Amino acid sequence: MSSSKATMILDKDFIISSIDKRIYGSFVEHLGRAVYEGIYEPEHPLADEQGFRKDVIELVKELNVPLVRYPGGNFVSGYNWEDGVGPKENRPRRLELAWRTIETNEIGTNEFADWAKKANTEVNMAVNLGTRGIDAARNLVEYCNHPSGSYWSDLRISHGYKEPHKFKTWCLGNEMDGPWQIGHKTAEEYGRLACEAAKVMKWVDPTIELVACGSSNRGMKTFADWEATVLDHTYDHVEYISLHTYYGNKDNDTANFVARSLDMDAFIRSVTAICDYVKAKKRSKKTINLSFDEWNVWYHSHDADRKLDPWQIAPPQLEDVYTFEDAILVGCMLITLLKHSDRVKIACMAQLVNVIAPIMTQKGGEAWKQTIFYPYMHTSVYGRGVALNPIVSSPKYDSKDFTDVPYLESTAVYNEEKDELVIFAVNRHLTESLLLECDVRSFNDYQVVEHIVLEDDDVKARNTVNQSNRVAPHNRGNAQVKDGRIEASLSKFSWNVIRLAKHAVTT
Ligand code: AHR
Repeated sequence: MSSSKATMILDKDFIISSIDKRIYGSFVEHLGRAVYEGIYEPEHPLADEQGFRKDVIELVKELNVPLVRYPGGNFVSGYNWEDGVGPKENRPRRLELAWRTIETNEIGTNEFADWAKKANTEVNMAVNLGTRGIDAARNLVEYCNHPSGSYWSDLRISHGYKEPHKFKTWCLGNEMDGPWQIGHKTAEEYGRLACEAAKVMKWVDPTIELVACGSSNRGMKTFADWEATVLDHTYDHVEYISLHTYYGNKDNDTANFVARSLDMDAFIRSVTAICDYVKAKKRSKKTINLSFDEWNVWYHSHDADRKLDPWQIAPPQLEDVYTFEDAILVGCMLITLLKHSDRVKIACMAQLVNVIAPIMTQKGGEAWKQTIFYPYMHTSVYGRGVALNPIVSSPKYDSKDFTDVPYLESTAVYNEEKDELVIFAVNRHLTESLLLECDVRSFNDYQVVEHIVLEDDDVKARNTVNQSNRVAPHNRGNAQVKDGRIEASLSKFSWNVIRLAKHAVTT
């Protein structure tokens, strides 16, 4: 029984933007068991000839991940990329200071490029602007992207990689505003360094696109000034500025927790405004876009991480086991990114495997999907095309930190090529279903193909190795088209994907 109603108007002409597929990116850092025992486990029965787990690759393909940021994260700020190329027997073991582990360097740039090809994805490469600088950055671009006939490109060839990797998207360091960062800098220091590194990286390969570091989160004291100063220095040399955010529910206040995507929305609006402020100040014709290259829920593993001994190889760090309510917030965050797809061109769910990840693995055993896998997969698979701007009217609630939180969080994507319209919708109401009435008058003859629902009576339900399908979607939602309107009852506290096509086909 629906107790309240939300309405929505969708029109083909209400276009926000065409969606850059990189908005469905992810992240693999040399951290915990993300690389070792995550994507790479040579002793695993399902390992391929390079030691990559084929079951993990299949799950990554299921997510249809277009871009993976690598190799960090905090890790990159102390990383010597040269340690990870060439004969494996010569690669040094290093004290990894960001996460206090031992890095064996068994996997490096070339192996990761191979893995990315196998997983049908591209690499978003980060350079170290913590302990290193311009020289290491330009050499890495030359090593990766220059065809041949120079020291670093010929070295790559001698390592068995004749063809350049042609990485297009590059990050200029990571979270350089954070005191925890190896080589933390002031905005002035970082802005100058990023500008000079960017300049010469593009002299080596003018086709690359660059992301400057924005703030580590919106709560940083330096937030806003940091972005303005960094962009003042780098504006002409970069295409994007980064945003990072992680949310948690330590107080166990679910209604407040799932409203946190409103904070993400405000963060995106603020950074967009700062980019445009610098644009105005510089009288520039160029627009800087946003790379939300770390976002997720992260808090479940904090206590366990504090108890880990240092200097282990691939310890179980940041292994959040996600609940059903986490999947609901992740769905709201994905909708928020889509709503801003005119300016957010890159976004990376942090991370991909084992470390705050949609995919978990057991050493020598199974790989399985966490709850957050599903909204990520649904948007990545069905959310390609143009983002539409729905006119939504929804009942609202107030929570501890937010006012006027709409129970209905929703957006729609139109895929002209496939003649498909997809509505993504969350009902934030914890106890009541919500009747959605959607006017789709410009989509004549569209029929519902399927209405996928992720729901669970227990907001804390989780998927674990022994119960890996405890939380999983079904397609028994009741959406239907009647007189040019979609009607659907959105179950209490649920994630919904309503797919419509001109000539309905069941999948
Ligand atoms: O994703 C985990 C960590 O979170 C990253 O290494 C860092 O950039 C951020 O603080």
